[in-house]
Amino acid sequence: MLDKINKLILEIRDASITTKEDLEQFRIHYQGRKGILAALFEEFKNVPNDQKKETGKILNDLKMAIQARIDSFLGNAGSTPESATADQDLTRPVTYMEPGPRHPLSIVRNRIIEIFSRIGYSVAEDREIEDDWHNFTALNFPEEHPARDMQDTFFIEKNPDIALRTHTSSVQIRTMEKNKPPIRSIFPGRVFRNEAISARAHCIFHQVEGLSVDTDVSFRDLKQTLLYFAQEMFGEDTQIRLRPSYFPFTEPSGEMDVSCNICGGKGCNICKYTGWVEILGCGMVDPAVLDNCNIDSEIYTGFAFGMGIERITMLKYQIRDLRLFFENDLRFLNQFRGEI
Ligand code: PHE
Repeated sequence: MLDKINKLILEIRDASITTKEDLEQFRIHYQGRKGILAALFEEFKNVPNDQKKETGKILNDLKMAIQARIDSFLGNAGSTPESATADQDLTRPVTYMEPGPRHPLSIVRNRIIEIFSRIGYSVAEDREIEDDWHNFTALNFPEEHPARDMQDTFFIEKNPDIALRTHTSSVQIRTMEKNKPPIRSIFPGRVFRNEAISARAHCIFHQVEGLSVDTDVSFRDLKQTLLYFAQEMFGEDTQIRLRPSYFPFTEPSGEMDVSCNICGGKGCNICKYTGWVEILGCGMVDPAVLDNCNIDSEIYTGFAFGMGIERITMLKYQIRDLRLFFENDLRFLNQFRGEI
């Protein structure tokens, strides 16, 4: 029996295992229920007692050799703790890796979420690859309407119905399709537009959308909510002003400016010497949009707003070039160490 086992050990060393099928064959042949190992262990029972020790040892070697071939094919060789060798000093201190600081866009996104959570807003996220209905049509952008040009995006050539979303307003639709009012939610997320990259624009950026739908929601509620937000974000002396604007999915629509927190409203190059900086678009949800989501516009009204996180972060931290957010330069990122 000893001779037989020794031969088998050599055979195993030379066995060619190059494919998964080979491995499976090998495994069944040696480790299978009716395989070589099982037969040998059966035979081992009849080995005279005085030879049991020696035979048992070599049988065990065979068993390990088989497993080692399998492990080495699977790439597991050496992964067991026992394989630490004498030249590895396991008591050496590890190289300390300092945890990275949070990205400024995440800091500001978290802050926005926190501010709105305090007044009862829940948070929802949804897909970045959208269909035409949720990104445009349900939001009252008819096909061929020039308003679509304001948000040129990346389409998929083979399927014009699919695009990277140009704004988080698509999540308004997804939320209203799934939920009945009252709705009070914010939707943070990444958006995409076909823009040339510059200090003020990028083809990828981030927005936070807000939506409130209930009976008797009015423009006053919108204005007070945004004033509360601006003062929590930029300080209690901050003032807001609303200018009339146009979005297909809100009526009336506005653009909101905050008093420049850098010069305190006196005028500087950030606010282009006007004392005001634009931070978001907003308005009352167009009744047609509510109806598109099967929410009865005779009963319910709502407001919505959408802000760019980059813009707010630049203002809050006086960052002059938007490209810094995407370059992963540690000299920039390390300045936010300690902020949450
Ligand atoms: N979705 C608009 C944009 O990206 C912003 C917006 C959101 C305006 C909600 C009004 C209401 O420009």
